[in-house]
Amino acid sequence: MEVVILPDPAEVARVAADVVSALAQRTARGTLGLATGATPLPLYEELARRARHGRDLSGLRAVALDEYVGLPADDPGSYRHYLEQRVVRPLGLQLDALDGCAGDLAQECDRYEQVLARGVDLQILGIGLDGHLGFNEPGSSLRSRTRVKTLSTSTRTANAAWFTGREVPLHVLTQGIGTILDARHLLLLATGAAKARALAAALEGPVTTMSPGSALQLHPHVTVLVDEPASSRLSLADQHRHAHSHKPSWQAL
Ligand code: GLP
Repeated sequence: MEVVILPDPAEVARVAADVVSALAQRTARGTLGLATGATPLPLYEELARRARHGRDLSGLRAVALDEYVGLPADDPGSYRHYLEQRVVRPLGLQLDALDGCAGDLAQECDRYEQVLARGVDLQILGIGLDGHLGFNEPGSSLRSRTRVKTLSTSTRTANAAWFTGREVPLHVLTQGIGTILDARHLLLLATGAAKARALAAALEGPVTTMSPGSALQLHPHVTVLVDEPASSRLSLADQHRHAHSHKPSWQAL
């Protein structure tokens, strides 16, 4: 696991965009896993800016991490809508996403597992205040696969800003933790002091279902891009800074 501490969210976005661009350069048709939430927004803006300036990322195939149950694709609260507007259209990508309105949700999850079985090269991740990855709340099995989950009250409260005037859906579909860990490279972004506790638990705490992000410790290729406030509870922060400043020039993220 490589942890890179950067001054601010803009720099996190810039370095993350370099990682995505490198994937597009390296592979003719790489698969990029997209996260939602506020944290990756500066990254998606930076990628859209690069696309407007001629960087062609359209060879990448995009896959989604999770979705609310019961929201149609054109609902502004749905993650498909979020991804279409902010990433897929600006970059000209193809998107495979979960259908939260499927008649048979279990079958939809199985279908999605088959889509992902083709391989995800780079999975962008954020982390919830309670340590959730995707919508894998504390208590989720570390080997879980794509399935229906019930959101905790705290996560529904945290996501209420995206649903002005209506309730946050109670049920979701999400890649499981085991599914996420199948991606070749995980890129976790964390910004802001509010994430410091969850991030420290994920990176430095015990591997436990109580902290779904701690499952990242089991993956062979994880890059964590974090701003100063989010890094404030990392006991290894100085070691991460030391390692990064002495990183061999030939070694990419
Ligand atoms: C949601 C998403 C997660 C995301 C998390 C954090 O619950 N399902 O994928 O990482 O929110 O969101 P934010 O970046 O807005 O803090």
